[in-house]
Amino acid sequence: MFTTDLRPNEVSSSALDWGTAIHELKQELNAVVLAHYYQEPEIQDVADYIGDSLGLSRQAAETQADVIVFAGVHFMAETAKILNPDKLVLLPDLEAGCSLADSCPPTEFAAFKAAHPGHLVISYINCTADIKAMSDIICTSSNAVDIVNQIPAEQPIIFAPDQNLGRYVAAQTGRDLVLWKGSCIVHETFSERRLIDLKVKHPSADIIAHPECEPTILRHASFIGSTTALLNYTQTSPSETFIVATESGILHQMEKQNHHKRYIPAPPTGTCACNECPYMRLNTLEKLHDAMRDRKPQITLSEEIRIAALKPIQRMLDMSL
Ligand code: 13P
Ligand code: SF4
Repeated sequence: MFTTDLRPNEVSSSALDWGTAIHELKQELNAVVLAHYYQEPEIQDVADYIGDSLGLSRQAAETQADVIVFAGVHFMAETAKILNPDKLVLLPDLEAGCSLADSCPPTEFAAFKAAHPGHLVISYINCTADIKAMSDIICTSSNAVDIVNQIPAEQPIIFAPDQNLGRYVAAQTGRDLVLWKGSCIVHETFSERRLIDLKVKHPSADIIAHPECEPTILRHASFIGSTTALLNYTQTSPSETFIVATESGILHQMEKQNHHKRYIPAPPTGTCACNECPYMRLNTLEKLHDAMRDRKPQITLSEEIRIAALKPIQRMLDMSL
């Protein structure tokens, strides 16, 4: 129906065409498009809801739509399916995985758990359904500290799979967490040296960071939070310039919500665009459209794993009202 073989000055009209077709398909399917902030700007612009992992899970839990189109990565769409077994959940590109989820293979994690008997398992939502099924409570970057604070002090805790978020939560709560040593390739890409150089050039800028970043980056941040918390901070803070240490897709909403301020992406170690998540960026407007038109690729999972993974997700939702 549409060609993608366009000259650069035709890009926005093409996005508009895809947008119109996606809007029509939404009506036809009674579909909702949920998007994470790390998606391409034109995908964010066709979404019904854009948010962080907690916000997206809440939307998935509450939606009345028949079809959920997840513009994000596999573990996010899988969480939506766990919450909605009877709905069709579409992911525009099934290859949209996550290095952090991949860093926690189920067999190794089962052995790690067995080596720490009596521990409560709190897992960051960036993990597979298999890992969720082995967990007691799921958390996200916006509620991890609150959830750990609700656990009795004498209860030992395994925190998986992100060691950087785990270290941050341990420091915030004063708890001695047993950490699984996983990490995100995007949030480990930032260079402390180049961040300091940037701060020297922009002395009045506020450095803000996602807790998946390494301690060498977090120690320079005046604010640390989930993507939604970072976005809200830039809107309410009196600062005019921000150096943003997370995936650069979030800058689109920051600029949309207040274009008078300046947002500078924190620099990666090399000259690559490593602060873009290669998995998130696999989704395109065209793939989103085609997924809705063809009703595939769909997320499927075994009912046994789904039921086991639902319990800790539900516990998270109940603990973060
Ligand atoms: P949040 O948007 O929940 O902060 O998560 C960030 C992230 O890395 C998602 O993959
Ligand atoms: Fe996974 Fe990192 Fe990409 Fe988020 S940004 S989806 S944690 S690889």
